[in-house]
This record gives sequence, C-alpha cells and structure tokens, in this order.
Amino acid sequence: MPTVKFVNEKRSIEVPEGANLRKEALKHGVELYSGVHRYANCRGFGQCGSCRVHIEKGQENVSRPGILERLRLLLGPITFFARLGNEDKLRLACRTRIYGDCEVQTHPPVNWHGEEKFWN
Ligand code: FES
Repeated sequence: MPTVKFVNEKRSIEVPEGANLRKEALKHGVELYSGVHRYANCRGFGQCGSCRVHIEKGQENVSRPGILERLRLLLGPITFFARLGNEDKLRLACRTRIYGDCEVQTHPPVNWHGEEKFWN
C-alpha cells in the first residue's frame, strides 16, 4: 500500500493504490482546508481550488492532472498565482489519485511574488 506523508502535519498514512488524496486525508483527520473553506468548498468536484496541495516528492507516483484541473489552476485568481513557480507540484487534492509513495504539503503558500516573474 502506498504511503502518503503529510509534511506539515508530520504524519504518514497508508492508502489503497488509486485512492483519492482528498478523501484519504479527510478520512485520517488531515485538514486540507483553511478558514471559511472548511465549511464552504465544492466537496471534491474540482471547482473551488481550496484543496490545493504541493506534491513535494513522488510526483511520478500520483495521477497526472487532467484538462479540467489544469484549467481550474490556470483560471482561478488565487490558484493562478499559487501555480507560479510550482507548476510541477501544485495539485488539487480532490483530483489526485495515489499510486505510490509521496510527500504532500497542505496549505501551500501563494507565491504573490510570482507577479515579478510574470511581468518580467
Ligand atoms: S474540493 Fe474544491 S477543488 Fe477540490
């Protein structure tokens, strides 16, 4: 069974192969959402962007982002900036399936300084 290590929470969980990252995190008490998003989120439909995480290690062991997830990350104002400089590791937990060991950072910071990279 793959192991998912949540680096902020300093805990690891074992999940079935092909498991959904959001569902497994919530099932094991890992808080994916911040602030009001704990109560107001799209419940895993890939629309709100509030379950974003960084896959710090093991990107090759998770599903590839689909077209809807890529569009959501590009078109959302916060996820757009969160994605700058983190294109390879920013994912929506609700759209990510686990096939092997990986390390996940919940609540990744938004890179507002990415604006400099964007405009320069
Ligand atoms: S829960 Fe809304 S995008 Fe994942």
